[in-house]
Amino acid sequence: MSLPPGFLDELRTRISLTDVVGRKVMWDTRKSNQAKGDMWAPCPFHQEKTASFHVDDRKGFYYCFGCHAKGDAISFVRETENVGFMEAVEIIAREAGMPVPKRDPAAQQKADRRTQLAEVMEQAVQYFRLQLKTANATVAREYLAGRGLSEAALDRWDIGFAPNGRQGVFAHLTGKGVAADLVIDAGLAAKPDDGRDPYDRFRDRIIFPIRDARGRAIALGGRAMDPNARAKYLNSPETELFDKGRSLYNHGPAREAAGKGAPLIVAEGYMDVIALVEAGFSACVAPLGTAITESQLQMMWRVSPEPVIALDGDRAGFQAALRLIDLSLPLLEAGQSLRFALMPEGLDPDDVLKAQGKGAMQRLIDGAVPMVQLLWRRETEGGVYDSPERKAALDKNLRSAISKIKDASIRGHYGQAIKQLRWDLFAVRRTEYTGPYQGKGGWKNKPAPVQPSTKSSVLVNAGQGAEEHLREAVILATLVLNPEVLGDFEGALERMDFAAHEHRMVRDCLLRFGAVENLHSKIEAEAGAALAAVMAPRHVQISPAVRVPGDAEIAAMCVAEELAKLDARRGVLREIDDAMEDISGVVDEGLTWRLKEAAEAQNRAVRSESEDTAVFDTAPSGAQMDRGERDAFARLMGEIEQKSDTKAKK
Ligand code: UTP
Ligand code: MN
Repeated sequence: MSLPPGFLDELRTRISLTDVVGRKVMWDTRKSNQAKGDMWAPCPFHQEKTASFHVDDRKGFYYCFGCHAKGDAISFVRETENVGFMEAVEIIAREAGMPVPKRDPAAQQKADRRTQLAEVMEQAVQYFRLQLKTANATVAREYLAGRGLSEAALDRWDIGFAPNGRQGVFAHLTGKGVAADLVIDAGLAAKPDDGRDPYDRFRDRIIFPIRDARGRAIALGGRAMDPNARAKYLNSPETELFDKGRSLYNHGPAREAAGKGAPLIVAEGYMDVIALVEAGFSACVAPLGTAITESQLQMMWRVSPEPVIALDGDRAGFQAALRLIDLSLPLLEAGQSLRFALMPEGLDPDDVLKAQGKGAMQRLIDGAVPMVQLLWRRETEGGVYDSPERKAALDKNLRSAISKIKDASIRGHYGQAIKQLRWDLFAVRRTEYTGPYQGKGGWKNKPAPVQPSTKSSVLVNAGQGAEEHLREAVILATLVLNPEVLGDFEGALERMDFAAHEHRMVRDCLLRFGAVENLHSKIEAEAGAALAAVMAPRHVQISPAVRVPGDAEIAAMCVAEELAKLDARRGVLREIDDAMEDISGVVDEGLTWRLKEAAEAQNRAVRSESEDTAVFDTAPSGAQMDRGERDAFARLMGEIEQKSDTKAKK
């Protein structure tokens, strides 16, 4: 709605900024000069004891010398009430006694009708409040006390009681002259089809008023006390006032609290919201008995850029979160995201507060995980990634989830985060070396034969990192035992990126000591554990220049060979990684070309590997893994080509 010209100026001249601000601050009377409109107070926008917040009433501006907050009456109301511009204008205009310009007549009529219904609702709320204080409501009062609600809390939340009778609120309201139709249209009573008298919808239930952001009563929630009641909670039906999917329980107060910096917490139920707010978590909302809708998400984001979803610690809670992820992925924008706080098994926030206290709740909220982690958990939970095919399937699912994010930069961040999680899952698990290697001169015991379990664990579970890790170890071990060739490879050694700490240590020793006679024992003295870890793998032990050191030519060939294969692999992996990221963005010819080149290099390296079976014949499942990864790679290529084809056709 646009305002008529001059309206805002008129508004600003009619109101006094001192009055507007005065409701939220305590003036410093010694520092202020009311006659001059020169007012000082402790700043409402930041914590302080001194009065650095200045209001210039004549100019209609405020400025804080502490936090530099500044603005006029409208911005002050927007900030302190956390409302939009038009709402702020309406609030100030109401105070100034200025009629806010009317909307178009039809809209006005609708607004009038809603106002009428809201007034009926408010009367009903007051009726139920009174009922809670009567003798009829003894059980209800005991129930509420049993749930830990104080008198003050009952007042704050306007909690009431609907007695068990056909016509309680209906008789009361019509008796006060409210038209029967209004009572029915407000959703308080229902008219049976058989023509009998209307009857109350809420009977023998605790009543929780539901208010819109502006505080008007728009619906009721009724909780049965009888555990055998047909429905534990009964909400008002949808009415002209109440659109379930566009309402949030406790919206208005939560918005104001969030405006003051409290994190917005989203719970599943009314009782959770009440318990959380009573415990001091002041910005809390809940949907109204349905899954969170897109409109509700947007409403939450208008209150806070990153609401914390408090999930009930059960299967249903987790499922609800997953649905919410699907709903919100396409809506993510910069500064508009979600976090998830997972309650312990079987508890909702209300239970957590009762059983474990505020501190526990605070820790859960502080530990809320970003959405990307829950997404990861959804895709990986219960999954076993013991084959390249399964890993590829996981990658595909993750890619398709991420591709739903419309915002390119957020999509990029998600890709990054997923990559990190993927690395953590598949990276080599480094453990202390406790094997049989006892230094130069041989193994104390003969190396144990390869177990079927080791076969499928070391290489396969560890994923793509494992093969590189072994190749690195072979290179290092060969050089340690054949120092005479070290000089040829110093440059290469320097450039290598070792992921494992032990590998880095041994490399550093090699570079530091150089080609000395007793290189092995020097390194052993300096970094014994690291060296043992390098020597441990069976791959290393069976490598020719390690098994029989002393032949410079064989040693040099071994190192050169391993370096070449590592290079090819690292090159291709980098390309795949980059490609994974690009896929969610643009697919172009350059990318396809880059991948083809990388694939060629990889194929050459793999081909040469299948030729040197003398070195790796006993490599447990090494060749198999390579083939699998090659296949996965080929599939990825296929996908990319398909993508760019369909793109080209468009
Ligand atoms: P819960 O069963 O988790 O409720 O349902 P709760 O808030 O923990 O309630 P208490 O602690 O048992 O009193 C969550 C929300 O789902 C809606 C209500 O809005 C409730 O707050 N609901 C639940 C219904 O609308 N109808 C029902 O029968 C149950
Ligand atoms: Mn509960």
